[in-house]
Amino acid sequence: MDKICQKILIAGCGGHAKSLADSINSIGQYRISGYTSPLADDAFPYPCLGEDECFPQIFESGVTHAVVGIGFMGKGKVRDRVFEQLRKNGFTVPVITDPSATVSTTAAIGEGTFIAKGALINAHASIGRMCIINTGTVLEHDVKVGDFSHIAGGAVLCGEVQVGNHSFIGANATVIQQVKIGNNAIVGAGSVVLAHVPDETTVYGVWKGIEKMASFSVVLDPKKAGV
Ligand SMILES: CC(C)(COP(=O)(O)OP(=O)(O)OC[C@H]1O[C@@H](n2cnc3c(N)ncnc32)[C@H](O)[C@@H]1OP(=O)(O)O)[C@@H](O)C(=O)NCCC(=O)NCCS
Repeated sequence: MDKICQKILIAGCGGHAKSLADSINSIGQYRISGYTSPLADDAFPYPCLGEDECFPQIFESGVTHAVVGIGFMGKGKVRDRVFEQLRKNGFTVPVITDPSATVSTTAAIGEGTFIAKGALINAHASIGRMCIINTGTVLEHDVKVGDFSHIAGGAVLCGEVQVGNHSFIGANATVIQQVKIGNNAIVGAGSVVLAHVPDETTVYGVWKGIEKMASFSVVLDPKKAGV
């Protein structure tokens, strides 16, 4: 017997949309109806259904589910805006978990969050709405991530780490246990984060905190960090 598939829209068609499409197809629960974008991308093998203004017609046509295929590198609120529009137009924005990811049964995952290939989310972790938990990340026990944050490929958040809203943890960064990363913060690729990162602050290299800045640690906007 054929599986009943829900029709799903991808808002956006860049690299993040391609990763999402791959995982959606692996799950087998949805059929991708197409994508919305101001520019069609011939390399993305789905119909372009128009721009964001077409959300009402797309929903009326029976496409009830949608995901936001727009990435986030620590700046801008495009994902928020598109998510709000999708919700306003009646779409369900589901959690997409690639079948190769491992998610503890005691972990909580918020609406619209994407768990990419090979991610590992351990016991009692809690992830907010619309996050990107990217390829091969490790979120250890009791980690908390707020809304709209992106943990990039290979990053490791050790036990009880907290990440705020709209923050970006770069690829392969390691954040040691119990460290708190604020809202709208950016951690550079490959960083080792040993101390709290204030709101609105970018750090990279070995981050030991404001008081003990290591030679490779820089607060790109010291005023915002209260220095
Ligand atoms: C930290 C980051 C956000 C800074 O970006 P930026 O503000 O544009 O900074 P710049 O590229 O101008 O770099 C400023 C300086 O910091 C250095 N630098 C930047 N990122 C660094 C990093 N992650 N580690 C060490 N040094 C870094 C640059 O070499 C440069 O040094 P210089 O002044 O001696 O030439 C960015 O470099 C980064 O690491 N982004 C994450 C990328 C990533 O994880 N992508 C995954 C996509 S899914």
